[in-house]
Amino acid sequence: MKQQKFVNLKAGLLLAACAALSASALAEQAPGNNISPEMRAQMAKMSPEMKQQIMSYTPELRQKVMGLSPDIRATMNQVHAQHTRKSKELTLRQVMQEILSEYQSIAAAVAVDNAEQAADSARRLANHRIPKGGLLPYFPLDKMNNQDMSVLPAMNEAVEGSAIRLAEAADKGDMAKAATHLSDIMSGCVACHQKFRGIPGVSDHLMSPIAGKNR
Ligand code: HEC
Repeated sequence: MKQQKFVNLKAGLLLAACAALSASALAEQAPGNNISPEMRAQMAKMSPEMKQQIMSYTPELRQKVMGLSPDIRATMNQVHAQHTRKSKELTLRQVMQEILSEYQSIAAAVAVDNAEQAADSARRLANHRIPKGGLLPYFPLDKMNNQDMSVLPAMNEAVEGSAIRLAEAADKGDMAKAATHLSDIMSGCVACHQKFRGIPGVSDHLMSPIAGKNR
């Protein structure tokens, strides 16, 4: 009985895998999907994972992403490749909340001279999860251009580079040094939010919109 269930489960998984594979092929051929011959040629050079990710975007976002310079797209691929934890379900907002928890854990650990907790949390922060579909679908569409996206590596370096340096200082027991990196990390969070995120939770049911709302 148990054996049979297991066989059914295996068959189900296999079917699901085939469906996922052919879904991307089908999406590519679907009418109204706006795949120009140039885009098709560009996509032919991509890894299967990358191709599947691009095909999961709406035609509108796909067009914008394919319009980014090869340099910027290569940088984004590198960012995705450097992170070993990729979620199939989580949104960027959920990932960001986990990142905030890691940051708070680092601060708590630095405050009580707990080098091990500080280093572990900092490394988890640096290797944060990548949300479903990658980072790009969660950025405002009007920021999907070479100029705005070119600042991403610097922000990434401020957050993730500083987190790694904090972990290394903590490994050496230099908590004073670790503490200085905390503000470098937060400067990266703030810079990215100022550029790519509006005010969280703004209400559409207020008569006077909040100044600075950009989404
Ligand atoms: C690469 C740019 C970038 C960096 C760096 C970044 N964030 Fe974010 N963050 C975003 C974007 C974009 C959103 C909005 C996501 C959404 O609403 O879909 C966001 C949303 C959030 C939210 C959710 C707020 C809400 O709407 O409920 C939290 C919490 C957060 N970030 C924390 C952090 C912390 C802490 C750091 C630094 C350790 C950080 N972020 C670094 C881009 C960034």
